[in-house]
Amino acid sequence: MTSLKGKNAIVTGGGRGLGKAVAIALANEGVNIGITGRNEENLKNTVEELKNLGVNATYSVFSIDDEAAVNNGIKTLVTDLGSIDILVNNAGIGDFGKINDMSTDVWEQVMKTNLFGVLYTSKAVYPFLKEKGQGDIVNVASTAGLKGGAGMSAYAASKAAVISLSQSMMAEWRKDNIRVITLTPSTIASDMSIQGGLTDGNSETVLQPEDFAEWVRDILKMNRRAMIANGSIFSTNP
Ligand SMILES: NC(=O)c1ccc[n+]([C@@H]2O[C@H](COP(=O)([O-])OP(=O)(O)OC[C@H]3O[C@@H](n4cnc5c(N)ncnc54)[C@H](OP(=O)(O)O)[C@@H]3O)[C@@H](O)[C@H]2O)c1
Repeated sequence: MTSLKGKNAIVTGGGRGLGKAVAIALANEGVNIGITGRNEENLKNTVEELKNLGVNATYSVFSIDDEAAVNNGIKTLVTDLGSIDILVNNAGIGDFGKINDMSTDVWEQVMKTNLFGVLYTSKAVYPFLKEKGQGDIVNVASTAGLKGGAGMSAYAASKAAVISLSQSMMAEWRKDNIRVITLTPSTIASDMSIQGGLTDGNSETVLQPEDFAEWVRDILKMNRRAMIANGSIFSTNP
């Protein structure tokens, strides 16, 4: 395993849920962190927590479905951090409902956020990683993207598209020494999964954000010659 100390990471949706847990796990390794999201209060509070772990931490408020805002926000964060080594494309939304009950507007918003958000953010970060000569991009998809199911058409389709986009990114960018890692977690206790009625979040049995975060941390610590291209994580017996 290699050390991540002194590296700089951007975590989208880092103000709560899985993104916040990843930001904390990386900060505990000495990684300086830039987090993004729409809720400034959450971002401010999380930045304070990260700074208390002894690293540089900063935030930028923007919606990942707006390409111009993403470009500005990423530039600001890279300037604040000095450079970037790691991007965690974590931000996403889960809107669930039957195909006939879900409006086209909601469907489009899920695709804009989950798919185009990853595209815009990755394209904004790529030139900085290319210039540096190496880097890591972690794309958070979902097991829902591996197989569609009732009541999850928009979410599952968006995550299937993220998996495919991420695999294409990997094929193109590994030549620049950029590891592109496609993760397909199953249900983890968070606002999304609890409010969406997917789990009760029972910490005795159900995956918690810190389980996911430790997994991401360990994947990133692997020797740079090794890249986990795809991976799933499940609760053992929820
Ligand atoms: N929890 C699970 O069971 C599970 C399983 C598989 C995959 N995932 C994936 O894991 C990722 C994190 O999920 P979570 O469970 O932590 O969800 P969450 O608790 O609902 O958090 C979602 C995060 O995404 C950010 N976000 C959402 N829309 C955004 C937008 N338009 N612009 C910028 N930021 C936006 C939110 O930030 P603001 O509120 O500040 O906007 C928040 O930080 C998502 O991609 C999700 O699909 C989750």
